[in-house]
Amino acid sequence: MVNIFLNGCCGRMGKAIAALCENNPDYKIVAGGDIIENNNYGFPVYTSLNECTEDFDVIIDFSNAKAVPAILEFALSRNKPFICCTTALSDDTVNSILAASEKIAVFKSANMSLGINMMVELCKQATRILYPEFDIEIVEAHHNRKLDAPSGTAMMIASAIDQEISDDIEFVYDRHSVNKARSKNEIGISSIRGGNIVGEHSAMFISDEEILTISHSAQTRDVFAKGALTAAKFMAGKEKGYYTMSDVIAQYIEK
Ligand SMILES: NC(=O)c1ccc[n+]([C@@H]2O[C@H](COP(=O)([O-])OP(=O)(O)OC[C@H]3O[C@@H](n4cnc5c(N)ncnc54)[C@H](O)[C@@H]3O)[C@@H](O)[C@H]2O)c1
Repeated sequence: MVNIFLNGCCGRMGKAIAALCENNPDYKIVAGGDIIENNNYGFPVYTSLNECTEDFDVIIDFSNAKAVPAILEFALSRNKPFICCTTALSDDTVNSILAASEKIAVFKSANMSLGINMMVELCKQATRILYPEFDIEIVEAHHNRKLDAPSGTAMMIASAIDQEISDDIEFVYDRHSVNKARSKNEIGISSIRGGNIVGEHSAMFISDEEILTISHSAQTRDVFAKGALTAAKFMAGKEKGYYTMSDVIAQYIEK
């Protein structure tokens, strides 16, 4: 069983993880952290991290970018693996997480879905084989409340593809301001916003004769919660270092 400290436990993702852990013999949330007081969980919720006396195997964080430095310090002080799922981190915070990986095990992914991370691996493979003959375009769709565009996940896919290409690649965001024909060394990234879409991502590899589309559709937020729990199992007992979902997937590929 993996014992978890869940930071941001009163938020949407925190609630999804707490629900998945209920009556689950593989995971136990032993304590949580939030700025909101909550006595309705079967575990204590701390508004001040240094009041936590429970022992645990890993920390899962789904809170707020401003909260990450404090929870990272907490992970360092308790010498425990830290799984950072919170997004929109500042460069300083990202650098602190990298520095912390010299002392503890840290895990970071802008998208905890196993499916999306598998999609990234497939896109990398497709790029190695199909670029430059095929043009590459990414399309993402999300609910009408999402503030940022393109999504962090679309950028994660684009960056992974870029790393497979030795040419200098230019990301072209939508095309309304670009009045010129497409060049080879660009990746187009387009966004759609509407309704209640949880998250759709497609990478299209387009030649003159054929189109290969690698796509992923998130149906519920539970995909992220389940991915975080898979990461928790992977990280429990890990030595210092920096880990991502690629390391989790590599386990399956190596089998
Ligand atoms: N990596 C992924 O796959 C993935 C998936 C979904 C969401 N996210 C990210 O996770 C984060 C949380 O998402 P959410 O939808 O649950 O948001 P949310 O707003 O519903 O919940 C955030 C929770 O964090 C709490 N919080 C805020 N400041 C805090 C602090 N200083 N200390 C402790 N808790 C604090 C809030 O009170 C709230 O309960 C966001 O950054 C979101 O973008 C990542």
